Amino acid sequence: MCGIVGYVGKKNAKNAVEVVLKGLKKLEYRGYDSAGIAVVCNNLLHIRRSVGKLCNLTDKIAQDPISSNIAIGHTRWATHGKPSENNAHPHTDASNSIVIVHNGIIENYADLKSQLKENLKDFKSQTDTEVIVHLIKKYYKGDLLDAVKKTLSKVKGSYALGVICKDDPYTIICARQEAPLIIGVGVKENFIASDIPALLTYTRDMIFLENGDIAKITKDKIVIIDKEGNEQNREIKTINWDPVLAEKAGYKHFMLKEIFEQPRTIEETLRGRIYPNEGKIHVEEVKLNKEDVRNISNIYVIACGSSYHAGFVSKFLFENFAKIPTEVDIASEFRYRNPILSEKTLVIAISQSGETADTLAALRLAKSKGCQTLAICNVVGSSISRETNHVVYTHCGIEVGVASTKAFTGQLTALYILALDFASKKESLSKEDIKKYLQELWEIPVKIGDFLENAQELNKIAKLFDQKKDFLYLGRHVNYPVALEGALKLKEISYIHAEGYAAGEMKHGPIALIDESIPIVSIATNSKVYEKMISNMEEAKARGATIIVIASSNNREVLTKSEHVIYVPETDEFVSPLISVVPLQLLAYYISVNLGCDVDQPRNLAKSVTVE
Ligand code: AGP
Repeated sequence: MCGIVGYVGKKNAKNAVEVVLKGLKKLEYRGYDSAGIAVVCNNLLHIRRSVGKLCNLTDKIAQDPISSNIAIGHTRWATHGKPSENNAHPHTDASNSIVIVHNGIIENYADLKSQLKENLKDFKSQTDTEVIVHLIKKYYKGDLLDAVKKTLSKVKGSYALGVICKDDPYTIICARQEAPLIIGVGVKENFIASDIPALLTYTRDMIFLENGDIAKITKDKIVIIDKEGNEQNREIKTINWDPVLAEKAGYKHFMLKEIFEQPRTIEETLRGRIYPNEGKIHVEEVKLNKEDVRNISNIYVIACGSSYHAGFVSKFLFENFAKIPTEVDIASEFRYRNPILSEKTLVIAISQSGETADTLAALRLAKSKGCQTLAICNVVGSSISRETNHVVYTHCGIEVGVASTKAFTGQLTALYILALDFASKKESLSKEDIKKYLQELWEIPVKIGDFLENAQELNKIAKLFDQKKDFLYLGRHVNYPVALEGALKLKEISYIHAEGYAAGEMKHGPIALIDESIPIVSIATNSKVYEKMISNMEEAKARGATIIVIASSNNREVLTKSEHVIYVPETDEFVSPLISVVPLQLLAYYISVNLGCDVDQPRNLAKSVTVE
């Protein structure tokens, strides 16, 4: 996620540049690949931008100093357009009179850009953001607030915006739709920021803008207009968090924060790519037309760890939706297995970091055999995303916790979109079925949000089992990879041994393990294999095991099969992994916390395994 900071105060009081840079520094935990700042001085806009860390921007300003009573700054986590100075924010109009910073995704930026065709020569970046400032300029007749209002009436998508203009060095206009934006309230000075940590040094009094709000801010006054155009007196809240807690948005660990971010990150990954009502899918970054997709003979998915588990789910999707034979392989195995590949094989590399050595090596092997390649990645401009023919970015923002959570569900989301896109192009699914699945996906963020409201229930269960030495996680069909993922979550952050198993395999050996010392986590959400899962649970229970079952919320039968039932909202079985994994993330988290483990940085692990 990008970071925004803005300041407007009395002349010759604070240097707005220092305030903004310090604020951006406090937002570094959000992850970024470039940064920039804009000020108004002597009725001119002055902008400094740099790639990489904030120190590069600070160095640039030291070489060519700027100061002012007003500034807006930005740290960019790239979603459209690679990390570069040209794509770094702030962005200006052609006449360098208006400048903006933006966090979010403009879904209809291509349409808006085509409407500005007379200005196309003025576009300097590959970002979706830049189209906003050209539109503001188009509507600007001296009233910046009015120009921003007119612009945002044309924009679809998510945004947190900061806007200043060289003609009015005393005013910041800001707006919020989905992407959070805060106003910091000072004395003869006011602030804007994406998140609380950026402002705590200066003020603890904050206004949390609501969706649709547009605000006009000067050093003495804050005017907020809601989406109906009415002036609102939003509540000023006093924040008593300590700065460290603030970086985690009040959560105890980044992992818990990232688990709770999943409704928004899934929505951001869906945004601008699926249109359920029309049954439309548009993955701009994937340049595979109908003929290209029809020519794919088979798919190989290569990845490691949680990314491998996400890829394993996609096997069911590509084969059932798009009728394309799909193999999934651990990258470190694929690269030494001499796989049978051809130019008609599509190789999909899944990697949150985009830097995993084994996945990169496996990708290079696939390319050497002439395969088409596609990345599912969370980091724009990373090695893997740069080396594939196509890339679908998960818009999750930085994932700080070593244990992957929001990136995993972000990868799943991207894979659902891709599999349905292929099915649409091959006409291997009816239009009605495609609309059905798109609608199911669109409802997932709300369903996960509903489930997370009772997250604390998982801690009650965690407390009963945090002394166990071994766990078994059982699943079938699309939830077999989820069983693998749940086991991985537990072992990597609590150091308890856990195995994920195909439930149907129990009789072929693992059932010998079962006695009262081994808890079994069983994923038994509604599906065509539900009855089979119940049988497996009864077999395990008959041998003394304690069962923790993940079940669909309308299922009462399961209460007779297990003492510990965790209900998740009902979904189509193919979409269920997106929601059945969430209780497993939370169970692992709470057990790890109860054991006093280092949840965000577990022993022996790195966030990105860039060596073999
Ligand atoms: C998952 O929780 C782990 N952090 C690990 O298995 C991770 O998924 C794996 O190392 C792959 O990383 P990547 O997605 O960045 O390639």
